Amino acid sequence: MKSWGEEVWEKKSVAHGDVGVILGTGFSKRQLDKNTQNILQILDSEVLSRLEPNSAVLDIGVGPAARIAIEVARRGHKVTGCDISASTIKSASLAANQHGVADKLSFEHCDVVELNLGRTFDCIYCVETFFHIPGHLQLVVFKNFVEHLKPGGRLVVQFAVQDKVTVGHLAYALFYHSVYEVASPILKMMGRESFYTNVTRISQDEIRDIAMRVGLSVLVANRAGFFVFEKP
Ligand SMILES: C[S@@+](CC[C@H](N)C(=O)[O-])C[C@H]1O[C@@H](n2cnc3c(N)ncnc32)[C@H](O)[C@@H]1O
Repeated sequence: MKSWGEEVWEKKSVAHGDVGVILGTGFSKRQLDKNTQNILQILDSEVLSRLEPNSAVLDIGVGPAARIAIEVARRGHKVTGCDISASTIKSASLAANQHGVADKLSFEHCDVVELNLGRTFDCIYCVETFFHIPGHLQLVVFKNFVEHLKPGGRLVVQFAVQDKVTVGHLAYALFYHSVYEVASPILKMMGRESFYTNVTRISQDEIRDIAMRVGLSVLVANRAGFFVFEKP
């Protein structure tokens, strides 16, 4: 039996294009490219520039375009991209071939909740993905990150950080959910399906609590939602 996550991401991967899966429907290729540049800038400055050439790097939720993994492979590292959706892994492998990095980038079809690759990595990163993991599974996922990190290895996770509820947050939630409720049936009539992929918001204190429980130190906190952790 497929988990909720596998079912929803597999269907989304088949029904929506790269941009739809990565950022959501309604976003443009231009916004995706800008988002890619922002993420790479953070990864480069916080971790990638410190790695030895040929380091082992794990991309969690690699996505259909493998857009970050391809760039990390181009920087000379050995990247493994993992994703819960089999169709996504197929598109990602195709993209790796098209960009000439297939020798540096391999893939694993797996759920990060049950991650068990039997090897460890110098760096693990998880972008535009961790906040889609339901709250009750997030601690398990962090335990899996720690098991797959070498001592001294670094972990970069992008969160949807929310430290308090403001009127702005409430207005956004109301807008987002109303648009979803109204747009879903209209899209369905037009023959397009929409999928509800939750965004789990988390406070900085909760993130520090998870890190403490799994024995990670926090090196960088909340740089545009990104945290960098290190395994002692
Ligand atoms: C919003 S997309 C982001 C893709 C990629 N990180 C990027 O930024 O281009 C989220 C990805 O995470 C994958 N995913 C969701 N839940 C997962 C899980 N439990 N284990 C592994 N991958 C997962 C989805 O299939 C999807 O490809």
